[in-house]
Amino acid sequence: MVRETHLRVDDLIYPMFSAFGENIKKEIPSMPGIYQQSIEHIVAEAKEVYELGIPAVILFGIPEAKDAVGSDAYCASGIIQNTIRAIKEEVPELLVITDVCMCEYTDHGHCGIIKDGDVDNDATLELLAKEALSHAQAGADIVAPSDMMDGRIAALRDILDENGFEHIPVMSYAVKYASAYYGPFRDAAESTPAFGDRRTYQMDPANRLEALREANQDLAEAADFLMVKPALAYLDILRELKDNFDLPLVAYNVSGEYSMVKAAAANDWVDGDRVMMETLLSMKRAGADLIITYHAKEAARLLKG
Ligand code: PBG
Ligand code: ZN
Repeated sequence: MVRETHLRVDDLIYPMFSAFGENIKKEIPSMPGIYQQSIEHIVAEAKEVYELGIPAVILFGIPEAKDAVGSDAYCASGIIQNTIRAIKEEVPELLVITDVCMCEYTDHGHCGIIKDGDVDNDATLELLAKEALSHAQAGADIVAPSDMMDGRIAALRDILDENGFEHIPVMSYAVKYASAYYGPFRDAAESTPAFGDRRTYQMDPANRLEALREANQDLAEAADFLMVKPALAYLDILRELKDNFDLPLVAYNVSGEYSMVKAAAANDWVDGDRVMMETLLSMKRAGADLIITYHAKEAARLLKG
């Protein structure tokens, strides 16, 4: 009766990795229970997700081929575009969110195109805008840019509006730190940078005020959701954003956070279910309205009782 915070199934967003090809279902070694899957398996899992009452998935793509400019990212028949159409055909009521970034599609693994050895912010904006538009054209319900280029929310908003997609919200990875917690994801998405790192465009984990600046900038550019990523080591930042902004706030419970729970539970060092629920609840308590989590299906089953 006096409980202050609740975790609900409809707070959860489930990430999925769609791989080019047929009959692929390959478990990611560092992420037990999470797979690279070809489209027919993605659709089957999307049905399961929907039946569990989880309202949304977020999609990541592993294309047939990568190149310097990430062509598959904005191709009408790219891996994500095909996946969106397949899900929408079979499970139309499931919300489809797409990750908008270049790193899954570039042969160098960076989140933008490269000039003089580093990511070229403004040239990348054009490609991100094309990517988001092609996701919307394929039927995506929400686009979620994770690249951390400056000006991308405005670039996405403009191209969507110009093309009749005024109603498609932009979920901004507004506050995204340069984090070692993304390690397992980069195996899953095959997106480890071939040289250097992402510290020229992702944030310094030491910075709190910069998080407010990033969020303010995205608000000014008309973001519809703000995200903090990673979540667990940044609960203070979630609270800070909740107290300062009135947009829906999303926590990304990232791959490394998932792997740590799974590894400790597999060793019987902790009670995996309890640690999972406590961790997700802590994100809600810190201020998150929604949580992107690889635990979504397990948590949904426990919440159903
Ligand atoms: C792509 C992207 C990343 C994640 C989500 N989108 C990786 C990165 O920035 O290196 C990480 C998610 C996770 O670790 O679960 N930009
Ligand atoms: Zn990226």
